[in-house]
Amino acid sequence: MRFTWLGHNCWQIGLADRKLLLDPFLNDSPTAPMKADAVDCDELLVSHGHFDHISDAAAIAKRTEARVFANFEVGEWLKGQGVAESRIEQMNLGGGVDLPWGRVTMTIAHHSSSLPDGSYGGNPAGFLIEAEEKRIYLACDTALFLEMKMLGLPRLDLAILPIGDRFTMGINQSVEATLLLNPQHVLPCHYNTWPPIAQDSQQWASAILQKTAAEPHILAPGETFELL
Ligand code: NI
Ligand code: MN
Repeated sequence: MRFTWLGHNCWQIGLADRKLLLDPFLNDSPTAPMKADAVDCDELLVSHGHFDHISDAAAIAKRTEARVFANFEVGEWLKGQGVAESRIEQMNLGGGVDLPWGRVTMTIAHHSSSLPDGSYGGNPAGFLIEAEEKRIYLACDTALFLEMKMLGLPRLDLAILPIGDRFTMGINQSVEATLLLNPQHVLPCHYNTWPPIAQDSQQWASAILQKTAAEPHILAPGETFELL
């Protein structure tokens, strides 16, 4: 399973025969290595309504005819942007959808969620992906929360966590989250997109190595981590 960081919270996830895309923010992102019209996906996951997670979602969903996973309110908004109703998988916190290739569960996130036009975005979320006998947790925009302890059970192969601080967890809470989740591997994101969320990723990796059992992997935008 391959995880390519497209900057910020945008990840392309390559399964054996599926391409997933999380939180497309490409055309207006200062760090994205590609534009929205160059990205390919079969399934599109949207964690919440903020522009830095959804700005290219409607255009990509329409062009690629991807299946879209989003909460009820974000799903309604995407319909209004012209995304076909039949391809939107509306869900909400704690709920999952079984698919031929695995399962996608929407997990809690402590954050906020309004859409670019100011309309109500419902509750923000993270995602748990179960596929190819792996369990992957995409925290998305969130504070630290104690239920992470349960998301890590019975085991977690990979956690992708924000470390930018200010709008989400910072480095210290990301280390605490890693202790609760106990993943085998951990990747940082949602940092260095703009100066207010600048972070020293080496400092984060050192803290992960010192205090947790997880293996940290720092990527530059455009780079790929392969989960074996
Ligand atoms: Ni946000
Ligand atoms: Mn964000």
